[in-house]
Amino acid sequence: MRFCKKFSNGFPTPFLGLSLALLLFAFLQPTSSCTEQEKSCLLQFLAGLSQDGGLALSWQNGTHCCTWEGVACGADGTVTDVSLTSKGLEGHISASLGELTGLLRINLSHNMLSGGLPLELMSSNSIVVLDVSFNRLNGDLRELPSSTPGRPLQVFNISSNLFTGQFPSKTWEVMNSLVALNASNNSFTGQIPSHFCSSSPGLTVIALCYNQLSGSIPPELGNCSMLKVLKAGHNNLTGPLPGELFSATSLEYLSFPNNGLQGILDGARIINLRNLETLDLGGNNFTGRIPNDIGQLRRLKKLRLGRNKLSEELPSSLGSCTNLRTIDLGSNNFSGELAKVKFSNLHNLKTLDLLYNNFTGTIPESIYSCRNLTALRLSGNNLQGQLSPQIGNLKSLTFLSLGQNNFTNITNTLQILKSCRNLTTLLITVNFMHETMPNDDSIDGFENLQVLDLGGCSLLGKIPHWLSKLTNLEMLFLDNNQLSGPIPDWISSLNYLFSLDISNNSLTGEIPEALTEMPMLKSAKTAARLDPTIFELPIYVDASLQYRKASAFPKALNLGNNDFTGVIPPEIGLLKGLHALNLSFNKLHGDIPQSICNLTNLLVLDLSNNHLAGAIPAALINLHFLSKFNVSFNDLEGPVPTTGQFSTFTNSSFDGNPKLCGPMFNHHCNSAEAGPVSTLSKEQTYEKVVFASAFGAFFAVGVLYDQIVLSRYFLASAI
Ligand SMILES: *[C@@H]1O[C@H](CO)[C@@H](O)[C@H](O)[C@H]1NC(C)=O
Ligand SMILES: *[C@@H]1O[C@H](CO)[C@@H](O)[C@H](O)[C@H]1NC(C)=O
Ligand SMILES: *[C@@H]1O[C@H](CO)[C@@H](O)[C@H](O)[C@H]1NC(C)=O
Ligand SMILES: *[C@@H]1O[C@H](CO)[C@@H](O)[C@H](O)[C@H]1NC(C)=O
Ligand SMILES: *[C@@H]1O[C@H](CO)[C@@H](O)[C@H](O)[C@H]1NC(C)=O
Ligand SMILES: *[C@@H]1O[C@H](CO)[C@@H](O)[C@H](O)[C@H]1NC(C)=O
Ligand SMILES: *[C@@H]1O[C@H](CO)[C@@H](O)[C@H](O)[C@H]1NC(C)=O
Ligand SMILES: *[C@@H]1O[C@H](CO)[C@@H](O)[C@H](O)[C@H]1NC(C)=O
Ligand SMILES: *[C@@H]1O[C@H](CO)[C@@H](O)[C@H](O)[C@H]1NC(C)=O
Ligand SMILES: *[C@@H]1O[C@H](CO)[C@@H](O)[C@H](O)[C@H]1NC(C)=O
Ligand SMILES: *[C@@H]1O[C@H](CO)[C@@H](O)[C@H](O)[C@H]1NC(C)=O
Ligand SMILES: *[C@@H]1O[C@H](CO)[C@@H](O)[C@H](O)[C@H]1NC(C)=O
Repeated sequence: MRFCKKFSNGFPTPFLGLSLALLLFAFLQPTSSCTEQEKSCLLQFLAGLSQDGGLALSWQNGTHCCTWEGVACGADGTVTDVSLTSKGLEGHISASLGELTGLLRINLSHNMLSGGLPLELMSSNSIVVLDVSFNRLNGDLRELPSSTPGRPLQVFNISSNLFTGQFPSKTWEVMNSLVALNASNNSFTGQIPSHFCSSSPGLTVIALCYNQLSGSIPPELGNCSMLKVLKAGHNNLTGPLPGELFSATSLEYLSFPNNGLQGILDGARIINLRNLETLDLGGNNFTGRIPNDIGQLRRLKKLRLGRNKLSEELPSSLGSCTNLRTIDLGSNNFSGELAKVKFSNLHNLKTLDLLYNNFTGTIPESIYSCRNLTALRLSGNNLQGQLSPQIGNLKSLTFLSLGQNNFTNITNTLQILKSCRNLTTLLITVNFMHETMPNDDSIDGFENLQVLDLGGCSLLGKIPHWLSKLTNLEMLFLDNNQLSGPIPDWISSLNYLFSLDISNNSLTGEIPEALTEMPMLKSAKTAARLDPTIFELPIYVDASLQYRKASAFPKALNLGNNDFTGVIPPEIGLLKGLHALNLSFNKLHGDIPQSICNLTNLLVLDLSNNHLAGAIPAALINLHFLSKFNVSFNDLEGPVPTTGQFSTFTNSSFDGNPKLCGPMFNHHCNSAEAGPVSTLSKEQTYEKVVFASAFGAFFAVGVLYDQIVLSRYFLASAI
């Protein structure tokens, strides 16, 4: 009996001679059950696992290995399949599997296997399918020597691992049967190999996305006459789309988003790709116009050219691509009137995103024939006029963003949109300048609305009562208007509302008790009550920050820059879920209530520019997540806490309070001032400091990111 050779890590095997010997061996020993040798190879694989997911129970030496879990054999009893997906396997992949001479398919995807991928598996004489995706395999992928005879491997999936180093190039010369190669989501460097298809003429799928590949797209890929899927997004590729590429006429899916590609889209060439269903070149530096010939790509379903430098008018022929489902042309420099395109032919269109361009004129009526439209974003253009009642035809519309245009008649807009019953997100900021907020109870509907942004419109009037009927509202932004009057008491009846921004208005009155009763803010554990669905389009809070679902937004109350008077109600301490509280630039007086120290989830607290008096509560040092704090320009007195997160705040947080004292001010605390603040024993103080600085260190890392995020919580408008 010959047993599976013991492999020590890292030594290449004389695989050819060995496999020949094994072939002979198998030949000489016709058998209908797995051989001892096969058993031994499999057991050696098992021995390489540190977590076997219970496999050992089934993989018993005394039993027939064709009955083992995840093992399958051919009619003659040779082991042909090892399929152990999602079994929680840990440890390394033993090279011994390469010794199973009849093995056709290995699928070890979705485990936690680590270490390298043994060369013996890639160089196997028999393996046709090798899928080790979604593991933690690491290190370089070693090259097969060019002298290796052609290998039978057809499907090779090493995606979603931790491979590093130069992406192999020679290896593919000996993979003559390759049909699908998936190496996406690793950290490979180097270039896209040029000779894929001269050695593997049958190559159909090449997926190399999410790596660090550089250089240009090799023109030789144009020789891939069978190639249907070519994906290499999220790399560092540069240069143009080579003209030769358009000879790969079988292409259905061409996708290079988020690289550094440039040049123009050559109409004469692009029409060769008549089978194209997906064209994704978003996030590059392409210039020029969309060629009119695009209209000949009749099978096109997804067109993604967002975040480039494309310009001029859209070709009217776009309306001939009647299979289009997704159009993303956002963040370019397109101009002209949209009416040039006959949208009415695009019956399948579900998503139209024209964010941040330079389109002018009105919304063409033809858009309203796209009955399947679920997401429409036209924000950040120069569109004008009143909304057409026809938009009510779009019964599937869930996401509508029209912000930063020059639309007029907000009353009309809301009266019309209320019939879009499926609307969940409505963003119409920075339009309707200086109009009056309609306060008409005939505005109803909107029963599914979750996000409403009406900020930045300089609207006059009051916070209208019809908002109280939007019972599913989660986020309400009315900031940067000129609204007056009080915060209405019905605010606490909005059971799902967790983010309210009414800053920079002319609102008056006291902070109502109702605000301290908002159900979503009273608990930190409410995420489960929110609609978990992903927005149809990500909501941009600014160019680099986007949200994909509601529960990712912070719980925030922003009342800043109004004319609120009275005291901060102590009941504010009930809002335990709150992440950000901004009461700055008002006319609040009285003390900072002790109860604010209960808001242990606070990241941001801004009470600046009021008339607050008294001491800064010492227990604020217990707010371990606080990363922005501002009480400047009040009338506070006494010592400034110096421990915990307070050791990270600069003087500017406390400016304009001449009666505050502390080591960092000119005004040092005298013993009377310093006296009663800390009642903790020395030992307790020490513990607290250690704890707090541990959190401080955590935030030193976290804060950089958070500050980017938080600085926009309150300021930017969603779009
Ligand atoms: C399996 O059993 C054979 C004898 O039946 C023995 O020679 C071999 O060492 C065993 N293998 C293991 C891994 O226990
Ligand atoms: C491997 O198994 C997973 C999970 O069952 C499956 O999704 C995947 O398609 C399989 N791989 C191949 C190449 O068939
Ligand atoms: C790995 O990629 C291959 C080829 O693209 C594919 O057939 C297989 O389903 C993928 N495996 C998983 C787990 O997605
Ligand atoms: C590549 O594998 C990933 C899993 O990592 C899978 O999601 C993806 O669909 C595969 N791509 C292709 C083109 O098969
Ligand atoms: C990338 O791989 C990691 C594991 O290495 C996995 O957690 C993640 O989901 C993968 N990402 C994608 C987009 O497939
Ligand atoms: C945008 O396009 C117009 C012409 O369509 C051109 O005049 C302008 O310079 C372009 N702007 C940028 C930033 O490329
Ligand atoms: C938008 O178009 C107008 C006129 O068509 C032009 O003056 C303006 O520069 C364009 N804006 C940008 C950002 O290119
Ligand atoms: C409206 O939304 C509901 C629930 O999500 C869905 O069942 C229904 O099909 C949608 N209506 C239209 C016209 O899309
Ligand atoms: C907005 O549109 C009106 C006409 O409806 C026009 O008078 C005004 O100049 C436009 N404003 C801007 C900023 O384009
Ligand atoms: C605004 O729209 C309403 C109908 O909703 C209409 O009665 C009113 O005349 C319009 N206002 C202007 C200035 O066009
Ligand atoms: C306040 O809102 C008005 C519009 O009502 C706007 O013009 C102004 O710039 C805003 N102020 C700040 C500080 O954002
Ligand atoms: C609080 O609101 C004011 C007024 O709107 C704003 O100037 C300030 O930046 C906000 N504070 C924080 C921490 O974002």
